[in-house]
This record gives sequence, C-alpha cells and structure tokens, in this order.
Amino acid sequence: MKLFVYHTPEAAPAEQLPDCAVVIDVLRATTTIATALHAGAEAVQAFADVDLLFQASDAWPEAQRLRAGERGGQQVEGFDVGNSPLDCTPDVVEGKRLFLTTTNGTRALKRVEQAKTVLTAAQINVASVIDYLKAKQPETVWFVGSGWQGDYALEDTVCAGAIAAALWGEEPADLGNDEVLGAIALYRQWENNLVDLLKLASHGQRLLGLDKEKDIIYCAQSNSLNVLPIQQSPGVLVKYNGEA
Ligand code: MLT
Repeated sequence: MKLFVYHTPEAAPAEQLPDCAVVIDVLRATTTIATALHAGAEAVQAFADVDLLFQASDAWPEAQRLRAGERGGQQVEGFDVGNSPLDCTPDVVEGKRLFLTTTNGTRALKRVEQAKTVLTAAQINVASVIDYLKAKQPETVWFVGSGWQGDYALEDTVCAGAIAAALWGEEPADLGNDEVLGAIALYRQWENNLVDLLKLASHGQRLLGLDKEKDIIYCAQSNSLNVLPIQQSPGVLVKYNGEA
C-alpha cells in the first residue's frame, strides 16, 4: 500500500487517480457526513454547486430529503439545515437523503469521484478508515484534504496523519510523498490536544467567530463513531456495510 497526502484537491495530480481516495474535511463536511450516516440517513449526496443540488433534490420525495450546506460557514438560504454535525440527530436525518453542498469538502469529493473506491474520513471515524485500509490493502491511497479555497488546512492534515500513523511502518505501507511524514509528525505533536489545534486553525478561528465552538469540540473527538462513509455512485455516500 503506497500512501500519498495531498493538502488540497488542487495539489492532487491532474489526470491520475488512486485505487482508494480518502477525502477529509474535519471542519466540518466529512464530520457531518459520518454523523448523518451514523444517525440513520439513507445517503449523503454531495454537490459542489448549489443549483445542481436544487435540481437533484427537487426530483426526490420531499419527506425523504434534506437540503444541507453552507457557504462561508453559514447555512445556505432556503436549505433545511447548515453543515453542523450537531444538527444531524436521528430525529432529523433518519431515513432521509442529505443533499449536501459545502465550500470546500464537496469540491474535494468531486475531484476524486471517479476513483475505484472513495471513502470519507474525519477525526471522529479514523479507526473505521484504518480498519478498512488494513483489510483491503489498496495499492495506492490518496488522503485528500479539503483545505480552504485552495489553501492548506491543519485539521485535514492532522487527520490524514492519524490514519497514516496507524499504517506507516506496517508492511507493506509505503511512502508515496513527503507530505505523509509531515502529516504524521503534525499528528504526533498534537494528538492529545486536538481541540486546541482545531481552534488555532484558520477555519477553526472562522467557526469561533460564528459562535460554533461546540462544533469544533465535537469535530476534534477521536473515534467517537464507528461508521465508514463509502461512495456508492459518483457523489453518493452510504454507510459501509462490510460488503465489497
Ligand atoms: C467546507 O466544506 O468548507 C466546510 O465543511 C465548511 C464548514 O465548516 O461548514
């Protein structure tokens, strides 16, 4: 297994794809995706574009859909919920499809949606991702951080580091690029203090400004949920059920 870390979707090589892409947006899209699926959402369908989201969700039965998402951290006008994982409780999401658009996370998903396998990771579900990768041993794995509008985001890289740290050194995990060791070093430095790291990060600061400290604390938990989001068809993520 050869591991690569790309801090942003833009940093991932064009016209190439890995066997397995792991998309990461700890603050907050992939935390929201994991939480919604764990709480019983039927699926999460991701869109980079708001208009396309409206088109697809209009065609879905009203009682079985939720429009979710943000721009700049704030709920999109006309949507049912924003992008807070704390809104994804079973009474809100159970049996429903979440039509989700976010500033960066859903763009990262779009970039790798043609890969053979696409998973999403957040700090809250790293163990599920590690277990899957150890069991399946894909030849090439890309960890793709969502960043913020093309810039590096600490919280995505530290999560990539948490997963890579568990795989690195285990035959046949192999170093694909130097960013992998950088991510592991970042994780080792902060693993016992992730809340503070997330608060220092630029998007953490933005969320604090929007009074979202509870979201940050939730997103900084390690392995609080046993759930693995896996792409079923381009843009559509479901809970992995152990098959395939
Ligand atoms: C994103 O995709 O940029 C984030 O999930 C933004 C957010 O915190 O809602």
